[in-house]
Amino acid sequence: MRFTTAFAAFSAVALISPSNAQQYAGDIIQNTLPGVPGAEIAYWKIKDTKSSNLTLINYHNYGKNGKRQDTNKVKRAVVIIHGLNRDPGTYQSNMLSALAQVPLSEINTDSVAIVAPYFSNGADKNIGYPWVEGLKPAQGSISNALVWPGSQWSGGGNNQYPWTSSKNISSYTVLDQMIQYFDNKTMYPNLNQIVIAGHSLGGQTVQRYAAIGQPGNVQTPVSYWVGNPNSLNFTQYPMTYGVSLVASGRANILANFNSKAVNWARGTQDLGDDSSSCAPFTAGANRNERFFNFIKAFPVSCADSTSSNCDTVDFVNAGHDGGAMFASAAGQARLFIDNWSGNGSRAYDYGYPRQQVGDDPFPNPGLNGSSSAINNNTYAGNMTYQGCWSDQSIRTLSNMTYQGSANTIESCTAACDSGNNTIAGLESGNQCYCGSRLGYMAQPVIDSSCASPCTGNASEICGGGNRLSLFSNGSPIVNAAPGTPEVIGSDWYYSNCYTEGSGGARALAGKGASGNFMTLEYCASFCKGYQYFGTE
Ligand SMILES: *[C@@H]1O[C@H](CO)[C@@H](O)[C@H](O)[C@H]1NC(C)=O
Ligand SMILES: *[C@@H]1O[C@H](CO)[C@@H](O)[C@H](O)[C@H]1NC(C)=O
Ligand SMILES: *[C@@H]1O[C@H](CO)[C@@H](O)[C@H](O)[C@H]1NC(C)=O
Ligand SMILES: *[C@@H]1O[C@H](CO)[C@@H](O)[C@H](O)[C@H]1NC(C)=O
Ligand SMILES: *[C@@H]1O[C@H](CO)[C@@H](O)[C@H](O)[C@H]1NC(C)=O
Ligand SMILES: *[C@@H]1O[C@H](CO)[C@@H](O)[C@H](O)[C@H]1NC(C)=O
Ligand SMILES: *[C@@H]1O[C@H](CO)[C@@H](O)[C@H](O)[C@H]1NC(C)=O
Ligand SMILES: *[C@@H]1O[C@H](CO)[C@@H](O)[C@H](O)[C@H]1NC(C)=O
Ligand SMILES: *[C@@H]1O[C@H](CO)[C@@H](O)[C@H](O)[C@H]1NC(C)=O
Ligand SMILES: *[C@@H]1O[C@H](CO)[C@@H](O)[C@H](O)[C@H]1NC(C)=O
Ligand SMILES: *[C@@H]1O[C@H](CO)[C@@H](O)[C@H](O)[C@H]1NC(C)=O
Ligand SMILES: *[C@@H]1O[C@H](CO)[C@@H](O)[C@H](O)[C@H]1NC(C)=O
Repeated sequence: MRFTTAFAAFSAVALISPSNAQQYAGDIIQNTLPGVPGAEIAYWKIKDTKSSNLTLINYHNYGKNGKRQDTNKVKRAVVIIHGLNRDPGTYQSNMLSALAQVPLSEINTDSVAIVAPYFSNGADKNIGYPWVEGLKPAQGSISNALVWPGSQWSGGGNNQYPWTSSKNISSYTVLDQMIQYFDNKTMYPNLNQIVIAGHSLGGQTVQRYAAIGQPGNVQTPVSYWVGNPNSLNFTQYPMTYGVSLVASGRANILANFNSKAVNWARGTQDLGDDSSSCAPFTAGANRNERFFNFIKAFPVSCADSTSSNCDTVDFVNAGHDGGAMFASAAGQARLFIDNWSGNGSRAYDYGYPRQQVGDDPFPNPGLNGSSSAINNNTYAGNMTYQGCWSDQSIRTLSNMTYQGSANTIESCTAACDSGNNTIAGLESGNQCYCGSRLGYMAQPVIDSSCASPCTGNASEICGGGNRLSLFSNGSPIVNAAPGTPEVIGSDWYYSNCYTEGSGGARALAGKGASGNFMTLEYCASFCKGYQYFGTE
C-alpha cells in the first residue's frame, strides 16, 4: 500500500508541469491534512529575501487523467481561500464538486486549475507543520512552513513562522505571488482569467485584498469573488503589506478597490453573525445588514459588462454554506463560466428583482429599499407610496381606470379610492390602474426603473414602461400563484396530469362543459356522480 502511494507520487512529479515550478519547489512539509480525491497537496515556494525555502502548503487539482495538469490546457485559475477553521481540503473538495456540476464540457479539471492555500496558525501545530516543544521561544516550528498568528492572515497580517524567514510575509504577498504565477504566459499560455475566491472569513480576506492588494503588472484579468463575509471593512493587523497605499489615504484605497472586478455572492438565508468582537456590529446587526449597508455606502458598478472592473451582486438561495454557494448557478457563472472564452461575456446578476427584457442586467442593489424616502405623502384613501413594481402579461393591476394627459398621483389615487379600491398604480406617465390585490407575478423592482413624469404634473413620477408607481392603503397583497389544490370539496383528490385521448376518443368520455366560467369547483359539481373529473 505504502509502496503504491510512493510510486504514484513519484510518477506524478515527472509529468508535464515543470517540477521546479514555484508551485512544486517548496519544502515538503510533514503534515496530517486530509487527502482530497482529484487533488494533491503541493508545496508552493514563496519568494523571500531571507529564506530560500519558504513554503506554503496548498491543494491543487489533478487533470482529467488523475495526474498533474498540463499547464498548456489550463484556461482559468481559481484560488479558493478557506474560512476561520483553516480547512483548505474542504474548500478544494467543494470547489471540485461545483466544477463537476458546470454543464459545459470544456470547463473541466483539465481546463481549470483550482488551488486552495492553507493559512495555518498556532492551533495547527503538528497538523499543518511540525512543532518541537522546549526549544527557544518562537523556534519550535522547525520547518519552512509559513504560519500566521491567529486569524491575521484574513487581513493581510505578517507571518509568525518560520523564524528563519523574513517576518513581513503577508497572506496578501502569497496571493500576489499566486496571481503572478498563473500570469506567466510561458507556463500558462492559454490562461485568460484568474479568480481569487473566498467564503466566510475567506470572503473577508478577498474583500480586503481587493481593497489594498497590488499584485503588480498582471496581464491576465483577475476577478475577486466574495462569498458571505462576516464583515466587509478593513482591519489593520500588525502588517507591512500595502502600508504606503493605506497611508496615502481613503481616495487612493477606494480607487484601488474600484479598479477591481468584484463579484459579491450573498446567501439569502445567511442571516447569522460570527463576530468575535463588537466591531462588526457597528456596520450592521448581521451579515445581511452589513452587506446592504456596505453596498449602499460603496455602490456596486458595472457601467460596461465587458469591462475589466464590472462588479456583480448575486443572491443565492443558501445559508452560510460555501459548497452550496460555489455550486449555485450564480457561483458557477462567476467562478467558472464568465469570460470563459475571453470575449467578456458574463451572466446577469442573479436573484435580484429584475424581471423583464430591457432591465439593467446589473442593477445597483444599493437602490433597493430606498422607496420610503422618495414620496412620503398620504393620498386619498390613506394611500402611501409602496415603491416601483413590475407589470407584465398577468397584469399587476388589471383595471385601467383611465389614461390621459391629466394623470397625476392625486387624481389616480382619488379615482381608485372612489371605486373602493385600496391600491392605485400609475404607469407610462399617463395610465391609472386600480385594484385591491396585485396579480401573482407582481414583483417589487428597483426604484430607478420608475422614472416617467406624470402627464398631468411633470414633478411627479408615474411609473415607467411595464412599471407601476404603486400607492396603497397598507402593504399591498399579492395574489397567490395558481396551483393545483390537493383536494376539491371533501372527496375529489388530485391525481396527476394526464394526456387527452387521441383519434377522437377522449380520456374521460362521460360528459363535458366549457366556458370562461370554469373553475375546479364548478367542474367537480358538474361531474358529481362520476369517479373522475378533469379540466383542460
Ligand atoms: C532548501 O531546499 C533544498 C532542496 O530541498 C535544499 O537542498 C536546501 O538545503 C534547502 N535550504 C534550506 C536553507 O533549508
Ligand atoms: C520584507 O522586508 C525586506 C527587507 O526590508 C524586503 O527586502 C522585502 O522585499 C520584504 N518582503 C515583502 C514581501 O514585503
Ligand atoms: C515562467 O515560467 C517559466 C517556465 O516554468 C520559468 O522558466 C520562468 O522563470 C517563469 N517566469 C517568471 C517571471 O517567473
Ligand atoms: C468596521 O467599521 C466600523 C465603523 O467604521 C468600525 O468601528 C469597526 O471597527 C470596523 N471593523 C470591523 C472589523 O468591523
Ligand atoms: C462570447 O462567447 C460565448 C461562449 O463562448 C458566446 O456564447 C457569446 O455569444 C460570445 N459573446 C460575444 C459578444 O461574442
Ligand atoms: C476576458 O478575458 C480576456 C482575455 O483574457 C481579457 O482580455 C478581458 O479583459 C476579459 N474581460 C473581462 C470582462 O474580464
Ligand atoms: C433589500 O435591502 C434589505 C436591507 O435593507 C435586505 O434585507 C433585502 O434582502 C434586500 N432585498 C433585495 C432583493 O435586494
Ligand atoms: C421621507 O422621509 C424620510 C424619512 O423620514 C426622509 O429621509 C426623506 O427625506 C423624506 N422624503 C421627502 C421627499 O421628503
Ligand atoms: C392610514 O395608514 C396609517 C399607516 O398605515 C395607519 O396608521 C392609519 O391608521 C391609517 N388611517 C386610516 C384612516 O386608515
Ligand atoms: C375599475 O376601477 C374604477 C375606479 O375604482 C371603478 O369605477 C370600476 O368599476 C373598476 N372596473 C372594474 C371592471 O373593476
Ligand atoms: C364604496 O363603499 C361604500 C361603503 O361600503 C358604498 O356605500 C359605496 O356604494 C361603494 N362604492 C362603490 C363604487 O362601490
Ligand atoms: C405637482 O406635484 C408636486 C409634487 O408632488 C406638488 O408639490 C405640486 O403641488 C403639484 N402641482 C400641481 C399643480 O398639482
